[in-house]
Amino acid sequence: MIKRPRRLRKNQQIRDLVHEVSIDKSDLVYPMFIIDGETEDIASMPEIKRYSLNDLPKALSEVTAAGIKAVLYFGIPKHKDETGSEAYNYNGIVQRGIRLTKELYPELIVIADICLCEYTSHGHCGIVENNCVINDKTLPLLVKASVSCAEAGADIVAPSDMMDGRIAAIRTALDENTFENVLIMSYSVKYSSAFYGPFRDAADSAPAFGSRKSYQMDFRNKKEAVMETRLDIDEGADIIMVKPALPYLDVVKTVSENFSAPLAAYHVSGEYSMIKAAAQNGWIDEKAAVMESLTAMKRAGAKILITYYAVKAAKWLGEM
Ligand code: PBG
Repeated sequence: MIKRPRRLRKNQQIRDLVHEVSIDKSDLVYPMFIIDGETEDIASMPEIKRYSLNDLPKALSEVTAAGIKAVLYFGIPKHKDETGSEAYNYNGIVQRGIRLTKELYPELIVIADICLCEYTSHGHCGIVENNCVINDKTLPLLVKASVSCAEAGADIVAPSDMMDGRIAAIRTALDENTFENVLIMSYSVKYSSAFYGPFRDAADSAPAFGSRKSYQMDFRNKKEAVMETRLDIDEGADIIMVKPALPYLDVVKTVSENFSAPLAAYHVSGEYSMIKAAAQNGWIDEKAAVMESLTAMKRAGAKILITYYAVKAAKWLGEM
């Protein structure tokens, strides 16, 4: 009888010696909501908040103390309009949040999510005409939002809108505006997913009519993920992404095997809320479930893990 695999698992020291994949604090990205108003809880995402500018410094001190090296910012403006103009306002909420963060923590990597849905009155990710999102009229606005976040000090812009051609448009404009060193993390593979539900509460961005199916990907498709990623890399994406994460580990694996750009997996709001709800009911071991989920993403080929559990995970890693 062959016993070797059993011997390799015989005690914790040996298991640690031979283990293949582990999470590092530097892999983690913490998504944060910054609101133009008072700090608020998010009903469907317990323990996650929408931070006011006043409360942001205190939140960041906890985030950085835990050892988190990168944050991903979403802005929630006071006023929304048809063209999402607060997304590219010099004094917009996310721009002010970025400036404040860079003053306090110049080393912290600030990633600015670029999309219009948190800023438009109709909740869609682009310009709407006759109930349709118009791709090419949206591009210049995404470009303006990217340049204004770079100007505020973002290290990375992360377009999450899924319009075609946005990476090339944004790259060109960043370069023309002296932001050659600002990276683009593209939401290259973003499925139209039910798991974004809690985020839409958090960002107050549920579409007022229709769905995002005309621009986000159909979850029945995988070859399309390869095509979308190739286009984004050709257009200038520095970092690529698959989103959501756990239900799409096959896609993470395929994309990681086909491309050598650093790959991020986004453990989205619904994935967070499922674990959190079960944990709050005493139905699941929260720490174990989170660490297993994040490790699975790395095992599938992701390098960067974007998760609302980032701060907790960093603390847990510190205890291990
Ligand atoms: C904006 C955006 C969304 C998410 C990230 N950026 C929502 C959406 O596309 O509806 C989802 C993140 C999450 O669920 O955690 N377009």
